[in-house]
Amino acid sequence: MDPTAHPPVDRTFSFGPFNLVPARQLLLRDGTPVRLGSRALSILTALVERPGELVSRDELMAAAWPKLFVHESNLKVNMANLRRSLGDTQREPTYVATVIGRGYRFVAPVEIGAPANSQKSAEPGGANLSRLPAPREIVGRDEEIARIVAELRKRQHVTVVGAGGIGKTTVAIAAAQALEAEYPDGACFVDLSTFDDPTLLPSALAAALGIRGSADDMLTAVIDHLGQRQMLVLLDNCEHVLPAAAIFARRFAASVGRSRLLATSRQPLGTFAERIIRMDPLKVPDAVDGLTIEEAMRFPAMGLFARRAAEWAGYELVQSDCAAVAQICRSLDGIPLAIELAAANMVDRTAAQLGAMLDQHLGFQNRLVTRHSWPPSTGVTSCCRRTKLSFFASFRCSHRGSIRSKLPPLPNQLTLVQWTSRYA
Ligand SMILES: Nc1ncnc2c1ncn2[C@@H]1O[C@H](COP(=O)(O)OP(=O)(O)OP(=O)(O)O)[C@@H](O)[C@H]1O
Ligand SMILES: [Mg+2]
Repeated sequence: MDPTAHPPVDRTFSFGPFNLVPARQLLLRDGTPVRLGSRALSILTALVERPGELVSRDELMAAAWPKLFVHESNLKVNMANLRRSLGDTQREPTYVATVIGRGYRFVAPVEIGAPANSQKSAEPGGANLSRLPAPREIVGRDEEIARIVAELRKRQHVTVVGAGGIGKTTVAIAAAQALEAEYPDGACFVDLSTFDDPTLLPSALAAALGIRGSADDMLTAVIDHLGQRQMLVLLDNCEHVLPAAAIFARRFAASVGRSRLLATSRQPLGTFAERIIRMDPLKVPDAVDGLTIEEAMRFPAMGLFARRAAEWAGYELVQSDCAAVAQICRSLDGIPLAIELAAANMVDRTAAQLGAMLDQHLGFQNRLVTRHSWPPSTGVTSCCRRTKLSFFASFRCSHRGSIRSKLPPLPNQLTLVQWTSRYA
């Protein structure tokens, strides 16, 4: 198809089961949104705009980080994330091929067309409902997911509470997916991390539910809409706009309809109807010496590190690395986000080097936070944790930009460029 047949703003790129709608920052797989950061979406767009052509690393970095200088490792991590979301992780690439030392090439056929009907209109909830993101492989967490499912069958509002990066969104999506079929009007996903102004919450809800109308009393329109339906609403990242989320939750609970609310937040919403489920970190081995691979894999933190390091860095966990990897996971307190970021850094390091780097630069081993003291709220442990997350969030900027901006400022915090150029 002639790539100029549709103006750029209207273009949809179709390849395999995927539809990419750049103007809406949306990637759909079989009509269901795929969770992907904005940088990775920009990289994908730059690639599919020129299928079959070599797109240089500089061009991709300019597309994803316009007017910013970032280290090339950011591109690598985003590319790995993109491939994972496309399921393109096998040796022979289906979509994105690496041209060593030069850049990348999109190798699948691409159809360019007018915006596809991005939602499945025959499904419950209608054409404009914001659907749950596609399922992702989850390591462990069966118990947490089962608890959320059980609580939501009994109560109107459940909030998954925990520290940043601990896996709240991941388990909430999995629980909502498990429950979706029980709701005739479907499940609706509302990501609140995309804005900071609490007054926008009613409009965000209305947009996610596909409600049109005047902005005068959008909240009432949303409550009425949900009251007439049996729908599951997943309100993700409430901590951004906590008071507004609490107002909505209160009105939602007072409406006593058959819809249900599942929220994720770093702090509880604090309403009467709220049932809080607190998330612990992933389990890590207590002792690292003499750990076998089989024993190690029983700990979800180790399993997550091994999977991500295999996907992103081609690393295979071997017996002689078990103790070092276990120490890394312990040092990172079993926080999935930190573990993923560490795994991404195995591209050009051994496990022992990564462990030594963490220990040397941040003194992790000496300030380990135990699971039982989680989540730390004050003092050294909290500061230590912020330091860790700041450190990793620096790398993570490429991976999921928002978290860095959510962290409190730290003394002597280095910038993304400084960190990545020094360590990545
Ligand atoms: N059990 C798990 N298995 C596999 N990956 C996981 C798991 N838990 C978390 N992750 C990964 O760790 C990262 C952080 O998880 P997630 O976004 O769910 O955390 P969060 O608590 O919602 O963070 P935030 O407070 O920033 O919203 C994600 O990339 C996610 O895919
Ligand atoms: Mg989240």
